[in-house]
Parts: sequence; C-alpha cells; structure tokens
Amino acid sequence: MMAFTGRYLQSARDVYPWRENMNVLIKNGTIVTETSIFKSDILTDGEKIKAVGINLTPETADTDVIDAAGKYILPGAIDVHTHLAMPFGGTVSSDDYFAGTRAAACGGTTTVFDFAMQDFGESLLDTVLRRDKICAPDAAVDYAFHVGVKDISGDLLNTIKDAVDFGVPSFKVFMVYDFGVSDGVFYELLSKSKAFNALISVHAENKEIISFLTDKFISEGKTSAYYHYLSRPEFCEEEAVTRAIAWAKANNSALYIVHLACKGGAEAIAQAKREGVKIFAETCPQYLEYNSEVYKRDDAKNFVCSPPMKNEDSRQAIIKALQSGIIDTVATDHCPFKLSEKEWGKDDFRKIPNGCNGVENMYPFMLSLAGEGVISYSRAVEVCSYNPAKIFGCADSKGSLAPGKDADIVIYDPEKTFTVTQEKMHSDNDHTIWEGKELRGYLEKVFSRGTLVYDNGNFMGKRGYGRFVKRQLTIYD
Ligand code: URP
Ligand code: ZN
Ligand code: ZN
Repeated sequence: MMAFTGRYLQSARDVYPWRENMNVLIKNGTIVTETSIFKSDILTDGEKIKAVGINLTPETADTDVIDAAGKYILPGAIDVHTHLAMPFGGTVSSDDYFAGTRAAACGGTTTVFDFAMQDFGESLLDTVLRRDKICAPDAAVDYAFHVGVKDISGDLLNTIKDAVDFGVPSFKVFMVYDFGVSDGVFYELLSKSKAFNALISVHAENKEIISFLTDKFISEGKTSAYYHYLSRPEFCEEEAVTRAIAWAKANNSALYIVHLACKGGAEAIAQAKREGVKIFAETCPQYLEYNSEVYKRDDAKNFVCSPPMKNEDSRQAIIKALQSGIIDTVATDHCPFKLSEKEWGKDDFRKIPNGCNGVENMYPFMLSLAGEGVISYSRAVEVCSYNPAKIFGCADSKGSLAPGKDADIVIYDPEKTFTVTQEKMHSDNDHTIWEGKELRGYLEKVFSRGTLVYDNGNFMGKRGYGRFVKRQLTIYD
C-alpha cells in the first residue's frame, strides 16, 4: 500500500481504490473473545466472518492475506452512548455524523449508538426517521439509535411500539436538564417497557438538589468550573440511581443506568443485582481515569460534563465495579464542544456546555487498562463489544468474532505505545480531554463489515458507508 502522510483521508478513494466488503484472511493472530484468548486465523467473505480456525487458506484469488503474528484480533467496539450533532447547551455538539463516526472508526469502534432526541409532540418513530435522514448519508460506520424521550402525553406513549418495530427498542429519560421527564413519566415508561419489549435507560441525578446548590453557589459568587462539580455532589447521583432502581423493582422492569460515576450508585446497583433485579450499568472512560481534581485545573471547563468526575473514592469504586462485573458496559457519552463554546462559562459554570469527547479513545483506553493488568483483555472486549450487543439486541451480527457475524474486526498491537494528541485525532473538535494520555497498545487496522476503514493512523472509510443496525431485544427472553 502507498504511504500516506496527511492527517486523515476524507475518503479512501483519495489514495486507494475503494474496495468494499473484502475477502480477507488474517493469519497467525491471537483472537480475544469475551471469555478466552487463543491463536487463530480468521477469514472474511464480503461483509461476514466466514471461518475462525487454524491453518485457514485463501479461498478466492482476490483474498488479501494479512500476517498478524504478535497481534490481537478483536471484535470492533460498540459505543452505545454518543451525542452527535446534538443541539444542547445553547449550541450543537461539534461532531456531526460523519466526523463522529470517522473518529469512531479510527478508535476501533465499528458501531455507534446515537441519541435521537424527541421533539415535544413528536411520535417516537418520527424522531428516529428525522435523525436517520441526517445520519444515513454521513455515517462512516454502522449506527443505531436510542430515543431520548421527552413527551409521552396522549397517544405518544404507544408510538414506542412503532419505534421498536422499526428496530429501535431502547429509550432514554433524563432526570435532569430542562427537557428531563417527571418522575411520573419515568415510572410510566418503566411500567410499560416489558410489554413493548423495550429497555429504558436513565441519566440519574437529582435535579432539585442541583438546582438548589447551583443557585446557592452563584449567589455567593462561586462561579468557577469547580462549582459545577460541587453542585452535583456524590449523593446527588447516588440518590437518583437508588430511586430509579426502586421504580424498576416496583414495576419488575429492566433498567439501564448510563454513565455511572459514583460509589454509592455502584453499591446500589450491586445490591439490586444481588436481589435479582434486571439492572444494567454503564460507565465511561473519563470516570475511570479522572477525578474531581480536574475541576481545579486551568482547563477545568473542558472537563465539564454531567455527571461530573467524582472524588477519588468514587473513581476507585467504579474501577472495582468494572473489575467485579457490576458494570456491564463502557461507553463514551461522546458530546464534544469547541474551546470557544466551553469559554462561555469562564465566569459562570452554568454557561459551559456539558460534554466531552471520547469516541476515538474508548477502545484504546480500555485495552490499555488491560495491558496494565487492571482488567483482562477479555473483560475489555466484554464491556466494549459483547455486552453492548447482547443488552441492546444486535448480538446476531455484532459483538463477537464468529462465523456468520459481521466482519467488524480490529487488528491491535499490544506491544506498541501511543500518546493521544489533538493532531492525531479524527474528530472535528479542537481539543481532547485525553491530551497527553499515554496508552499501551496501538490499533493497526479496523474493518467494518469487511471494509478497511482505518489503517495505522489514517481514516480509510467513506461518508455514508455506515448502515442502520436494526435491533430486537432478547433481555426478557
Ligand atoms: O455532559 C454530558 N453528559 N452531556 C451529554 C448529555 C448527557 O447528559 O448525556
Ligand atoms: Zn446523560
Ligand atoms: Zn449522554
């Protein structure tokens, strides 16, 4: 292949002939599954994995053979929590569907879930169709939606069925923000979710307490980004997680808790799981890496997200919950804003748009944790790929390397190292909270349904290649 020295390609066609759904034989690699690691070859046939085994040979003349000796072969990651082109905080998150999925591809994430936010009065299927119109022409990797629910008045509740039938069986409610739902709406959604074969997820923080503390700090002239953290303290998330679990229990329904960041929340989830409640928990790399000390830094505003990074005790508890299986998935909450937008809040933390980047860094970060021995490589695969596919109903095609599944394959060198810098990133944002982070291991190649979408630092994919992933839940089976 020709050398390429640019930052990234807008299209692989700039340099290479575009070859979709290739036949590839990856030889001598080490396959990592959610349960085991073993030496094996892997053969793809167009979009699908054809065979996994030793001593495989090319079956067609046009099969590309790649020697992966010393490399790990992983299923592409699935980031079930991104906000692309999302109107929020007085602006729109800075990665559109192309930029966000381009960054995903370059981070080994071959499926991205985005939140389609309902407009008031809009049917939940119309929400999906409206967002799909923008996403479909732009997505560079496969994508799915959750619907962010705001309004179930009148007959809107029953439009859940239409969204589920269309292949979008997951819905999120926010207990915070001006578009957050009331306790009654959340409760009603939980009570109906099983009958619709739908899964409700929740952003759990206590809105009233946040509002009280925010007003208090502002009236005392405490306006720096550190007060974003202090206005959303540990107990504020713990209380909301506990309350949400109580309602799931009362309804005998499943519940998925997004971006868990606090120790008390992890303990409540552990207890609920012990009691047999169908609770799933997600955390994000930023809560594993950073604590609330970041809000004392000069660039504190860049770390403003909700829930905020918590104290060290919480960070350690989240790491333990990841290790012990209390956490089911890791996703990014990718919702980047430009430096100039973050700057809006330099004298008033309320004006800082909430959200950080992460979609390109999740898999490399989690695999680096595995390289350091914090978790195993199999656990990294489980929380970043296998469990997301299983929980959100796309395990028939995604989340593992088995014959018949989509050829979403990552070739990874565990011996190389990589330092994250903004110049090497493929997002449209102008900074990264991961700046300077040294990672063990390096992504060499990423295939999405048999198509090379990333190669050694370069985006190789194409706008519009990504396909909608139609899903059906099996969590109630
Ligand atoms: O700060 C965050 N997390 N922004 C995105 C919206 C959300 O709460 O998930
Ligand atoms: Zn949230
Ligand atoms: Zn989010």
